[in-house]
Amino acid sequence: MATATAMNDMIGLFRRELLLCGVKEGETVAVLSEMDRTTDYATGFMTAARDLGAHAFNVNVLPSGLGMDAKVGNVGVNPLTGNQPAIDALKQADLMIDLVFLLFSKEQLEIQESGTRILLVVEPFDVLARMFPTQELRERVEAGERRLQKARQLRFTNRAGTDVSYELGRYPVLTEYGFTDTPGRWDHWPGGFLATGASDDGVNGQVVMDEGDIIYPFKTYVRQPVEFTIRHGRIVDIKGGLDARLLSDYMTSFHDPKAYSISHIGWGLNHNAVWTGHATGVGGIGMDGRAFYGNVLFSTGPNTELGGTNDTACHLDLPMRGCTLYLDDDLIVKDGEIIPNDMRAPER
Ligand SMILES: [Fe+2]
Repeated sequence: MATATAMNDMIGLFRRELLLCGVKEGETVAVLSEMDRTTDYATGFMTAARDLGAHAFNVNVLPSGLGMDAKVGNVGVNPLTGNQPAIDALKQADLMIDLVFLLFSKEQLEIQESGTRILLVVEPFDVLARMFPTQELRERVEAGERRLQKARQLRFTNRAGTDVSYELGRYPVLTEYGFTDTPGRWDHWPGGFLATGASDDGVNGQVVMDEGDIIYPFKTYVRQPVEFTIRHGRIVDIKGGLDARLLSDYMTSFHDPKAYSISHIGWGLNHNAVWTGHATGVGGIGMDGRAFYGNVLFSTGPNTELGGTNDTACHLDLPMRGCTLYLDDDLIVKDGEIIPNDMRAPER
């Protein structure tokens, strides 16, 4: 449990976050929590909501038995499954704070469809504070969204030999900027990136992860380049050293041909994200790598979060630094630097 001073800092930061989420007097904020895990966050959010004149309550459920890292790799399994009275209570809220991790579950979709906006919060407090979102971050992410929505092809390269193209237009663009004031919309604090997917057979080329790029869910940094050969939206070959072998073994362990499909693609825009977070033990579940300013977030596996039909459980998020990315003929990222002014961080 936090000390009184730390608790006051937490309530203050949570109040600012709820204001970004548009919480007003008379609204209802529900917290979803698991037993005695993150009771300080549950108390902090309810107190912050009350300070703003909102009603607040906490739906506290038994844990699913999975730790946070295991949850990231087992999306869709959660402690709300089958608990309709709890789901119904959460649907009454204007904003739900998810301290459990409902991501990709049908329970989450049901709550969103009722108009409840959902904010996922699972990172350590120092990560929440360092990557605290702003309206300015939202505007830059939405500038990227407009560009990505109208693009028909995405192509990215890097010095290690990547040259891959994605045929776009079939799937929507997902944004994460760290707060949500739009009914039914989900977001994750912290965030700061956007993504979409190619048509199911529309990815072709080579992706070569360079030394220092990140492998999630391993939270490790690549030591020898990993080369993926992709044909018609599927990985047909993985070459390289130890990292390539480990990745390949991990994918094989799912015994699922759908594991070799290509998932979402996009880039990061949060200039407060730190690439070396995992090396120094402050990385949480990995939003630093995923939202890192100027990265390209390559990923493999499912596309159900985009509305597709590939529901494989094998999902790898693979942030890459120093890439160059084009949308049609527009240069978006050059050697890891964001080029269009409407997406550039203010102090750069
Ligand atoms: Fe992902």
